[in-house]
Amino acid sequence: MTALGKLIRTTTFKLTIVYLTVFSLFAAFLLGYFAWNTRRLFTAQINATVDAEVNGLAEQYRSGGIRRLVQVIESRSAQPGSNLYLVTSPAGEGLAGNVGYLPMGTLEKPGWSETEYRRHDNPATSHQALVRVFELPGGFRMLVGRDLDDREKVHNIVISAGRWSVALVVVLGLAGGFFVTRRVLRRVDAMTETTRTIVEGDLSGRLFVAGTGDELDRLAENLNAMLERIEALMRGLQEVSDNIAHDLKTPLTRMRNRAEEALRAAKGEADYRAALERTIEESDALMRTFNALLMIARAESGHARDDMADFDAAEVARGIAELYEPLAEEKGVALKVEAQGPITVRGNRELVSQALSNLVDNAIKYAVPSTTEGAIAVTAASEGGQVLLTVSDNGPGIPQADRPRVVQRFVRLERSRSQPGSGLGLSLAAAVARLHGGELILTDNDPGLKAVIALPRGGPVQSAA
Ligand SMILES: Nc1ncnc2c1ncn2[C@@H]1O[C@H](COP(=O)(O)OP(=O)(O)OP(=O)(O)O)[C@@H](O)[C@H]1O
Ligand SMILES: [Mg+2]
Repeated sequence: MTALGKLIRTTTFKLTIVYLTVFSLFAAFLLGYFAWNTRRLFTAQINATVDAEVNGLAEQYRSGGIRRLVQVIESRSAQPGSNLYLVTSPAGEGLAGNVGYLPMGTLEKPGWSETEYRRHDNPATSHQALVRVFELPGGFRMLVGRDLDDREKVHNIVISAGRWSVALVVVLGLAGGFFVTRRVLRRVDAMTETTRTIVEGDLSGRLFVAGTGDELDRLAENLNAMLERIEALMRGLQEVSDNIAHDLKTPLTRMRNRAEEALRAAKGEADYRAALERTIEESDALMRTFNALLMIARAESGHARDDMADFDAAEVARGIAELYEPLAEEKGVALKVEAQGPITVRGNRELVSQALSNLVDNAIKYAVPSTTEGAIAVTAASEGGQVLLTVSDNGPGIPQADRPRVVQRFVRLERSRSQPGSGLGLSLAAAVARLHGGELILTDNDPGLKAVIALPRGGPVQSAA
């Protein structure tokens, strides 16, 4: 495409042309109106002057007849000025006046007309005049008029001023239009360039924000927020697949090796049975890990947001406490529940239940056996605009420095290695809290851990970003 073709296709060019046309038309209209009006005013004034002159002459004619009229016109014609006079005899000869030449037939038409003429004292140049012709009794004719030079001069000044103004509007409009639209569109071009690199795979690119807070800035900010989100989701996906590959490979390999070992070394039915039972146990654990990973992915993708409804958090807390009661008893810790309902909250009941189960499971797993009442306490309460689901225990707790770490996938503290688990419980609880626009808070229970799932009562605010 030629350079000109490219220019014509740009929005800059089109916008400039549109604005220029509008402005030029407007300027032309304004100046035209001005020119027409001044001309009209001039003409009206000339009419009035001529009429006054005619009235004066009529008076003279009435009092002294044609002789008197001729005298008066002779004396008036002698005075310098733009007024024009002529009186002719019935034969058409000039009797008095300062008009020397008129086009044929001008005197035959009584009334107003615009005509060319030459003066007696300057027969070389012709001028324009506005004249009024009268027929007098006896075949005499009288012409009274006024030179139009002044009117034409002013008219010409206005017209040439108008031409210059329109030319100036066009030049300034072109320059200004190009300048302003270029500035705006340069930013759009920069955005296009950045998005191209992003499309090509560099998700870390961000659009330039000028900091002026204008429409383009807001657009860039929103697109950046969108990119941020996409990048986070991609990273999450990447992590999940890495984690699956890495953390499920080890137990799978172990399971396979055990099965092989059993085939090779088992000495009887009892050995085979034992090996098969082990395999089933391990595949159950694997399935649990898989389910936990899928659930986290589901919570993090935000799809579960469509599945939200009002439910009673107190009832959920009581149900889970009841479910874990036997396990706590077996472990020798006292578990108590404080949940006066109903405490209505908007959310995904299944995921919230799972998150709370994970916290209770941890408490039982890591608590110190104790029959003190409320060694483990599960509470549901409503505070301000939030619903708080709290699980506190009397175990070793989690050191302050480790708290941000334990909510990551597969992170288990060193001292917990003796207990079974995959390190996904707290990740899921945190992901579920985030899904609801809330958070998972880990604090000290002195001694022990206090884990709180804080959810906004009305569910997640539909993200404004
Ligand atoms: N109540 C608690 N008291 C002390 N440490 C805890 C407690 N809850 C969690 N932790 C520590 O945080 C780590 C991560 O907990 P998380 O629930 O994510 O995994 P897990 O319990 O090890 O495994 P999973 O829950 O997947 O079976 C645990 O391994 C443990 O070290
Ligand atoms: Mg756990």
